[in-house]
Amino acid sequence: MDMTIERLGGSFAARVSGIDAGNLSNAQAAALHQAYLDHKVLVIEGQDLSVAQFDAFGQLFGETVEHPVKNFLHPDFPKVMVLSNSTRLGKPLGVKDAGSFWHSDRSYMERAADATILFSIEIPDEGGDTFFGDMEAVYDALPEKTKARIDGRQYVSQYRWSTNRGDPESRWNFLMPDELEKTPPVVRPLVRTHPETGRKGLFVFPGVSAGVKGIVGMDAVESADLLDELFDHMTRPEFHFQFKWRDAGTIVLWDNRCVMHRATTKNLPPDKVRTLHRISTLGGVPA
Ligand code: SIN
Repeated sequence: MDMTIERLGGSFAARVSGIDAGNLSNAQAAALHQAYLDHKVLVIEGQDLSVAQFDAFGQLFGETVEHPVKNFLHPDFPKVMVLSNSTRLGKPLGVKDAGSFWHSDRSYMERAADATILFSIEIPDEGGDTFFGDMEAVYDALPEKTKARIDGRQYVSQYRWSTNRGDPESRWNFLMPDELEKTPPVVRPLVRTHPETGRKGLFVFPGVSAGVKGIVGMDAVESADLLDELFDHMTRPEFHFQFKWRDAGTIVLWDNRCVMHRATTKNLPPDKVRTLHRISTLGGVPA
């Protein structure tokens, strides 16, 4: 069967059919990589993969990397993180909420993520959709005067940074001392140039995991106003693609260099069980 690609969203996202992700030829792997660059989000359904095969599939998209937060890494394959809202003897089996706010994986680390790859193990009959945003389309649609204001500008962010010391999701409540040490503040470009395609995309995210502290060289009010304007713009639905998980055995992968995403699992009721495996690959320093 030949590999086919069908566009799912407006400006991005595609379904890939006709491949066995556990047994790809070199030509198929190259075509898949090109599809990932062209469509930014790929959905591959009907896959029967062991954890070892999923781990190996992840390596097609770069060097796989452990999440800096060690809870819920797979015991045999630590580069694989378990996302789940299910519990055993009252203990969570995985990360319930991998990020309900828009973010790009590892944007808070010196070297950010290139790809993130999810594989569904158990899917509820409803709920738990994943949303994606095309940050190149977001950038292209900005007014020229905003582009001129942000091109070449940088901001500072820190993992789960929050001004509110009572925020239960902020770093001082959430991270172990060694995890705090691994997540110092980083300086990021507001506009990132994709290292493989050369396209420009907005690269700042409102999510708590991205922890934006402020734009370099702007006073706090000007920085907050500009960030609000950018966040309002990027959260317009015309830039988004909503993926509804249907079955176990589905791979969804995306390019964090030009795509933001968010989960909707935070308030899934306990009888709607959703378990996924997740891998990210190590990218470069965003520029
Ligand atoms: C993620 O944010 O990496 C996972 C998204 C999801 O659980 O839907």
